[in-house]
Amino acid sequence: MQLLLMGPPGAGKGTQAAELVKKFNIPHISTGDMFRAAVKEGTELGKQAKAVMDAGGLVPDEITIGIVKERLAKADCKKGFILDGFPRTVEQADALSKILDELGMKLTRVLNIHVPFEDLIERAVGRRICKSCGATYHIKFNPTQKDGVCDDCGGELYQRKDDNEETMKNRLSAYENSTKPLIDYYKKADLYTEIDGRQPIDKVTEDLVSVLSSVN
Ligand code: AP5
Ligand code: MG
Ligand code: ZN
Repeated sequence: MQLLLMGPPGAGKGTQAAELVKKFNIPHISTGDMFRAAVKEGTELGKQAKAVMDAGGLVPDEITIGIVKERLAKADCKKGFILDGFPRTVEQADALSKILDELGMKLTRVLNIHVPFEDLIERAVGRRICKSCGATYHIKFNPTQKDGVCDDCGGELYQRKDDNEETMKNRLSAYENSTKPLIDYYKKADLYTEIDGRQPIDKVTEDLVSVLSSVN
């Protein structure tokens, strides 16, 4: 299954990808996670991405397409993958289609987690992530049992640097200007399904799985 999870910043792409990984045992490929790992390691890629990410802009297409191309060519993607946060521009979508052609693969479905803009800032600002295992929580919508401590592994929680109201406004306008056109792009390709992301987390997962059971 070759899946694309779309949705505005904070819609729940990472949260849902983690559930789909458990169900379908295919790799989760998040360009945001890849960039954050590169920033942490201090690589050349990390240096190029850091300022853009901190400002809530988009990393240049050429760089982003390059890392995805490399990742999709790895052996674990042969059984399928879940792309999260890529493509984010029409240029990236065209490049993805070319990359998949070259690999002899096709997208199974594009799933857009729809959440209205007014909910997204609260989701991002309240998000907490485990330093050790990467599990995602929310102080109000998905709290840990013990404040600041991961339920899964006991790790310490942290907040992403771009999860503040000001940066979120820029991330939302980048989405509106560059990423939203992909809705029509994938509607035209007859791959698009929208999921109501305002529901509780487990209900969103149920809807995703139900769509996927009919395309599989
Ligand atoms: P990226 O990491 O992809 O950030 P994003 O798209 O802004 O999305 P998020 O990770 O913030 O949200 P999510 O949808 O994964 O939500 P989550 O599940 O965590 O990208 C970061 C940056 O990297 C970009 O700004 C850009 O600079 C750069 N970048 C990345 N890809 C790029 C590309 N292709 N091209 C160029 N630049 C790129 O959930 C959010 C919160 O809500 C959590 O606290 C969660 O617990 C909670 N939540 C989840 N679901 C629900 C629910 N149903 N109800 C209530 N709360 C919920
Ligand atoms: Mg994410
Ligand atoms: Zn953890």
